[in-house]
Amino acid sequence: MNRRYRKTIIAGNWKMNKTPAETKDFIAQLKPHAARAKWCDIVLCAPYIDLPAAVKAAKNTRVDIAAQNMHHEPGGAYTGEVSGQMLRALGVKYVVVGHSERRQYFGETDESVSQKVRAALECGLRPIVCVGESMAQREKNLTLDYVRMQVKTVFWGVDAKDVKKVVVAYEPIWAIGAGAAATAQQADEVGRAIRECIREIYGARCARSVTILYGGSMNPKNAGELLSMPDVDGGLVGGASLDCDGFVQIIEQANQ
Ligand code: PGA
Repeated sequence: MNRRYRKTIIAGNWKMNKTPAETKDFIAQLKPHAARAKWCDIVLCAPYIDLPAAVKAAKNTRVDIAAQNMHHEPGGAYTGEVSGQMLRALGVKYVVVGHSERRQYFGETDESVSQKVRAALECGLRPIVCVGESMAQREKNLTLDYVRMQVKTVFWGVDAKDVKKVVVAYEPIWAIGAGAAATAQQADEVGRAIRECIREIYGARCARSVTILYGGSMNPKNAGELLSMPDVDGGLVGGASLDCDGFVQIIEQANQ
């Protein structure tokens, strides 16, 4: 973390979990802890159907709500989809874009992710864009080249004034849901390469203001070490965000 230049963010990615009633209870439990976490922004990435309950429960708290996906068009004949404008109208502030599960199971590509990033910014949502390599790519020493290519694609067409609204989440695919996270050194090395890539496109001032998260089996035990690295500005937490106590423990470490 480097709070001089950028915000620390802990985002809980619930994936396909929790009902509206569970959402309401979770936020009620989180609320007093969130009030104490002055140095750390807190985001909950909830399923679409939970968003109205989440926005209502999080009103006047330090918790912001994110969707887990959006369509790049503002509206139209796209059965089953939800647009960024609809999310904004609800009071949603962030949207996860290009999570590896969406790339793997729902055919998302770097190009569609890039379209969504621009659409999110246009309607006033902050995109949390996920990038990260597979184990096969890591083993072939392709990690940094691959992630750099992803970063270049997702920032394509993004105006310099909007760059710091984008949150980048480095999520090595092999660490997601695996029980074992990347080491702090691995997370920091890729975080640094992502920032360097942003610097090449937009310059040093822009690059140092971008929040870069680590995601992939972050939990209360490993969060402190990961967050102590200069280019790990927070976490995108899946499994460990489902239980409020554990999530709060991570927030407390990010608030140090
Ligand atoms: P995990 O998921 O923390 O359960 O590994 C992280 C993510 O997929 O965002």
